[in-house]
Amino acid sequence: MWSGKVNAALADTVSELSPGTALDLGCGEGGDSLWLASRGWTVTGVDISTVALSRADAEARGRGVASVTWRQADLETWEPEGEFDLVSACFLQAPQEFDREGVLRRMSRHVRPGGYMLIVSHAAMPPWSHNHEHEDMPTIEGERAAVGSETEWDAVIAEVRHRRATGPDGQDGMLDDNVVLLRRP
Ligand SMILES: C[S@@+](CC[C@H](N)C(=O)[O-])C[C@H]1O[C@@H](n2cnc3c(N)ncnc32)[C@H](O)[C@@H]1O
Repeated sequence: MWSGKVNAALADTVSELSPGTALDLGCGEGGDSLWLASRGWTVTGVDISTVALSRADAEARGRGVASVTWRQADLETWEPEGEFDLVSACFLQAPQEFDREGVLRRMSRHVRPGGYMLIVSHAAMPPWSHNHEHEDMPTIEGERAAVGSETEWDAVIAEVRHRRATGPDGQDGMLDDNVVLLRRP
């Protein structure tokens, strides 16, 4: 049900980095994973949804992409092996109860020294949402705190970005995204 396209914030922030290994948390239909693969990254895309992963896999096969491994797992309990040059969590937000901060913290430990952690999240509900009472939206400070103390990371980007988007009924509106790119010294 997600777009399957690369997230603009990931394409923008990662295009300057040297390709290596990447872990895409909550990869959905694989838009980010496939974009990273097209840029020379070796990617592990993880999602709990077998439906999303089957779509991602079909897209990868159609494009002849072999450098993405799709992994069905619950991030609340799954532990990856080894370290990555990039751990990415783009819109890893779920309506059900989900220990998002715990997942971010645990997964951030798999960023190798010199590697990067990217977190992109909705900072506010979309203007077309009926639910404006949400008080639990992530903040830049919260995202940074989730992955450990500031001394553990160099902040490359930590800002709210605005982008134009189209709602489900064709509404035109602006969305606010938290964009946090941290480098492990
Ligand atoms: C809002 S979608 C974002 C998908 C993709 N990253 C993107 O930006 O298009 C959130 C994704 O997180 C996945 N997800 C939610 N809870 C999860 C969990 N506990 N373990 C793994 N994936 C989960 C969902 O299945 C969904 O694909």
